Amino acid sequence: MVSLTGTLSLVFLAVASVSLAAPFNPPGGVGLNVTPIYQPMSQFDFHSLSLALYQEYIELDLFHHGLAKFSVEEFEAAGMNAEDRFLIEFMADQEVGHARMLSNIIGPEIAAKQCDYTYAFETVREFVDFLLNLSVAHTVGESGVYGFLEHLNSRAAATLLLDSITTEARQQMIFRQFEGLFPMPIWFVVGITQSMAWTLLAPHIASCPENNTYLDWQNFPALDILNNPDATGITKDTLAAITHNRSVPLSKPGRVVHLSWEDPGKPVGPNGSYITTTSAGKPKHVAWISQLNTTYTDLTIVGKNAGFTYQPGEEIYGDHTASVINGTMFIMVTDEDPYITPYNVSKLNEHVVAGPAIYQSG
Ligand SMILES: *[C@@H]1O[C@H](CO)[C@@H](O)[C@H](O)[C@H]1NC(C)=O
Ligand SMILES: *[C@@H]1O[C@H](CO)[C@@H](O)[C@H](O)[C@H]1NC(C)=O
Ligand SMILES: *[C@@H]1O[C@H](CO)[C@@H](O)[C@H](O)[C@H]1NC(C)=O
Ligand SMILES: *[C@@H]1O[C@H](CO)[C@@H](O)[C@H](O)[C@H]1NC(C)=O
Ligand SMILES: *[C@@H]1O[C@H](CO)[C@@H](O)[C@H](O)[C@H]1NC(C)=O
Ligand SMILES: *[C@@H]1O[C@H](CO)[C@@H](O)[C@H](O)[C@H]1NC(C)=O
Ligand SMILES: *[C@@H]1O[C@H](CO)[C@@H](O)[C@H](O)[C@H]1NC(C)=O
Repeated sequence: MVSLTGTLSLVFLAVASVSLAAPFNPPGGVGLNVTPIYQPMSQFDFHSLSLALYQEYIELDLFHHGLAKFSVEEFEAAGMNAEDRFLIEFMADQEVGHARMLSNIIGPEIAAKQCDYTYAFETVREFVDFLLNLSVAHTVGESGVYGFLEHLNSRAAATLLLDSITTEARQQMIFRQFEGLFPMPIWFVVGITQSMAWTLLAPHIASCPENNTYLDWQNFPALDILNNPDATGITKDTLAAITHNRSVPLSKPGRVVHLSWEDPGKPVGPNGSYITTTSAGKPKHVAWISQLNTTYTDLTIVGKNAGFTYQPGEEIYGDHTASVINGTMFIMVTDEDPYITPYNVSKLNEHVVAGPAIYQSG
């Protein structure tokens, strides 16, 4: 029986024997001695980077749309002054830079072009809430990218994408502050799969130019949370601030969560050219993807495509230091409850009946 330390030193020896280390460079590491190629190196890379590009375009459009839609008075009433608005404008510029970078990596000739979008917000607060939902930490913007970054064949392209997504992570925190929320109630930002991200993103894309990249990712049937805790409501007297302690928690473990979901077969996304599908069996569980964990609760069916579950109380390390369920997370209806860790979230795709939907807690 080899101890863990024994196994590790054997592995280290094996690495040392295949690469002669330069001075001051401990042996090991990946891609240190190659000429970096900042290009997709597989179909997986191409479709992942194209998905990220679709996301950058919608963020860029969204920032401009929000700034144009609301008056100075409406922004002021939400506690956002001229400098706050300039910050949003600057974020739009960041998105231009990110889209340009991704387009260059993919190849400007073949890279997807910008599309037309559809948004449902009517107030400044809803606009900011929508940014939180869609834009940065969640769906493709942050969680969508973290889900595939370490699986890309092109490590060089992954480096550039990381450099852009860390900037978006900073945007995400600012959106929470615009809502007067505690800026980062989590210890870890979770990753989701491309199909989960595309499921959330596609319904906001109305139409795209002819010949735009057709993504190979799956669109799952939509999942709706009928009683999502409402950050806009609870904080409506709460103006923009660096941080606020939330005196009334948005939600707590044990809270009942009512769900309804669609059948597969619905056209979604640009020009209705994607059709929702699922390969899962009967709905039995709700998966909660958050922080480092995918945890499950039982789903009680109450009718056709409708059911309820309870918000779980799991803690990341089980010692009352941090709850798995805090901030914004992804929930899905599944047929089984496979054990999932952050590097194999893609194993969950085949079990998704519907979702993800975005749940807010804290
Ligand atoms: C943000 O997401 C929450 C949870 O899904 C939802 O209740 C809320 O309506 C969303 N806000 C907007 C503006 O889309
Ligand atoms: C969520 O995070 C906030 C901010 O750190 C904390 O006050 C709250 O207790 C957390 N909630 C849970 C359920 O862990
Ligand atoms: C999608 O619809 C738009 C607007 O009607 C049209 O210009 C475009 O060519 C369509 N794209 C595809 C792929 O059919
Ligand atoms: C779309 O692709 C077809 C086939 O390659 C081509 O004939 C057509 O000109 C392209 N349309 C646009 C708008 O690029
Ligand atoms: C903020 O919340 C923390 C954690 O619950 C608490 O220790 C602290 O006293 C609160 N501070 C204020 C000013 O409410
Ligand atoms: C959450 O994930 C971490 C890291 O994989 C693991 O150590 C921990 O046991 C998990 N906690 C729960 C409640 O599943
Ligand atoms: C995911 O990875 C963990 C190890 O981190 C493994 O125990 C588990 O079986 C994997 N899940 C699936 C569905 O393959």
